Amino acid sequence: MTNIDLGRPLQGDVVDLILDDHRRFEALLRDLRDSSQDRDAVRRAFAALHVAHAEAEEKHVYPQLKRKNAVDDDEADHGVEEHAEGNEALLAVLELKGTDTQAFEDAVEELARLVNHHLTEEELTILNPAREEVGPVVRAELGEQFATERNAQIDADCGTLTNVRRIVASARKEGLLDEHDEDEE
Ligand SMILES: [Fe+2]
Ligand SMILES: [Fe+2]
Repeated sequence: MTNIDLGRPLQGDVVDLILDDHRRFEALLRDLRDSSQDRDAVRRAFAALHVAHAEAEEKHVYPQLKRKNAVDDDEADHGVEEHAEGNEALLAVLELKGTDTQAFEDAVEELARLVNHHLTEEELTILNPAREEVGPVVRAELGEQFATERNAQIDADCGTLTNVRRIVASARKEGLLDEHDEDEE
């Protein structure tokens, strides 16, 4: 568990709730780069939020946006692949013993690269259509489902090394981490 505040939204427009988490990711990545921070605590907080957020998107948000024809299968599948890549890079950060090494900084750089890419793409290809093509009532219903799942995941301590290893292993088994062309990103 982490002492760093990850917020605990209970309801709201799903687009706003997702964007709030994206800002939290950006703040945590900044702290991971900052050698004056308790980077071990920060990586554990990042892990919990990344796993919880991605799981809640995949379980509720992507399927509902597909049903409403706001996003297509390819966009949703691509988001799931990027979550898997983010979790794999996160695992590399968690596996390292020390947080004051070059290896740690290299792993943080790769994590930041993948997560920043995903946040940008998700905001452009998934959140914009959600705003434009899904009404406020559905966005609010989805917000509550997203928040409930996200909070339950955090309460279950979803960001532990053991759990992130399990998630990455299962993503690999499903073929979500197969090599693909850079320009497909
Ligand atoms: Fe997201
Ligand atoms: Fe996402």
